[in-house]
Amino acid sequence: MAQKIIIDTDPGIDDAFAILFSALHPDLDLVALTTIFGNVTADIAARNAKVLSEMVDLDIPVAKGADRPLVMEPNPVSDYVHGEQGFGDLPAKQPKGSIDERSSAQLIVDLINESPGEIVLCPIGPFTNIALALELDPSIQEKTRLVMMGGGLDRGNVTPHAEANIWNDPHAADRVFAANWDMTMVGLDVTSDIVSPPSDFEALAKAAPVLGGFLNEAAKFYARFYMSHYNIEGCQMHDPAAMVAVLYPELFTIEETAISVVPDGELVGATLRSVDPNRRLVKACVGGQDQAIKDVFLNTIKTGH
Ligand code: RIB
Ligand code: CA
Repeated sequence: MAQKIIIDTDPGIDDAFAILFSALHPDLDLVALTTIFGNVTADIAARNAKVLSEMVDLDIPVAKGADRPLVMEPNPVSDYVHGEQGFGDLPAKQPKGSIDERSSAQLIVDLINESPGEIVLCPIGPFTNIALALELDPSIQEKTRLVMMGGGLDRGNVTPHAEANIWNDPHAADRVFAANWDMTMVGLDVTSDIVSPPSDFEALAKAAPVLGGFLNEAAKFYARFYMSHYNIEGCQMHDPAAMVAVLYPELFTIEETAISVVPDGELVGATLRSVDPNRRLVKACVGGQDQAIKDVFLNTIKTGH
């Protein structure tokens, strides 16, 4: 039986990697996309998610989520990383269908209550919608588990201390880590070392001209960012790594620790090991079999069309 998942996403180039992977993998059943500001505005995130769902012929609800953090003023969108329209240099595409009339938080609550214990919730953007869903219906804590891309116990990317998804809404992230649910954090400690060079994406385009071709085009912009900012040849596979962790947790090295998030000041957005006895331990991924994780992603897309 395929694992049901909801992806909460700010598509975004590596979000697109994660979403197409999830749609194509036979052991995942992507039941909804809930979207959030972050890499792009909330409107562009919702539009791009609907476009992606249509690219893989998925008739699933896509909802628009929060357009700003819970407390602080929004940071600027990272269009220098993902492009103005979210998929690098690719022009904006309009979806054929419309998005769900519910908010992302409401859709998350409704779907989890319809299928308690059956859905894994996968935030791969700022955690604002997740915090709002908790506020709407705290009982979802007992009805789902989280596998999230975000954080970094010993590193950051937007700053030396903060990873982008946490940095974009530290208050929401802290509420998520303080809640009483099963959490797996796929953070920079593992995702920074999973890099796909341009040759990987060229191979995808050859094997799967439509979907692989799209990802190859989008990846070119993302790779230019990594080369110019980090002198890395390729893309760090943040979001797809989180989706691989849903299926193959054994490919990841885990440290169990409670986590708290610094809400402001110089260390804003840092995810710190916490000794708070009231906080549940998080399965924090601190390493992994990088090539094996990457191969799961690449081989799945190659089966695409
Ligand atoms: O720090 C990487 C994360 O921030 C990824 O989810 C990327 O898509 C951005 O949202
Ligand atoms: Ca993302």
